[in-house]
Amino acid sequence: MNIYPTDHLKLDRESKERQLNQHSKVIWMTGLSGAGKTTLSYSLEATLHKMGYFVQTLDGDNVRTGINKNLGFSEADRYENIRRIAEVSKLFVSCGVITIASFISPTNEIREMAKSIIGSEDFIEIFVNAPLEVCESRDTKGLYRKARKGELKEFTGIDAPYDTPLHPAIVIRTDLLSIEASTNKMIEFLLPLIRRD
Ligand code: ADX
Repeated sequence: MNIYPTDHLKLDRESKERQLNQHSKVIWMTGLSGAGKTTLSYSLEATLHKMGYFVQTLDGDNVRTGINKNLGFSEADRYENIRRIAEVSKLFVSCGVITIASFISPTNEIREMAKSIIGSEDFIEIFVNAPLEVCESRDTKGLYRKARKGELKEFTGIDAPYDTPLHPAIVIRTDLLSIEASTNKMIEFLLPLIRRD
């Protein structure tokens, strides 16, 4: 490859983190569709923002409609979806940004891949956990109904797998905790990792 090292030209990550007065991390939210990932990511983003942190959320709305709009939900496409998201998250974290990635990321293999791209010291896994029955009864987007009728194939939790995360840093039971309590639980865990003092 005709790529030449330019490391000597680059400002390092530490200078950028110092400028933003934070330590950057990737907060990786995994869970079933309807478990509450989007709600909690934006609640976490807003709370951190109010506290003075510089945060960006990546989710289906800004990724699957843009950089990943050529991808569907086959096993291979989900893998490629998460691979690209992990690479983008790694770029964000290297410029000092606290990055929230909010995707089903259904298998242990897929999450391990994301973690190995990002680096285990920067990867914080949050399992947004609500039982399938609860997600299905919420059916916020009407997709479980379609999946049950066979109109939507390879739907996570119905006819595509979701592996329970093995060692998440935090588990949030969204069927038991309010949005506020869930957000507080995440903030309590994250603050010591992102603040500079
Ligand atoms: S992932 O499996 O590749 O991580 P991602 O989080 O990007 O999935 O997208 C999931 C969202 O896409 C769901 O919340 C739902 O709105 C929509 N979706 C459409 N088809 C499917 C499907 N077959 N399985 C899961 N989610 C789907």
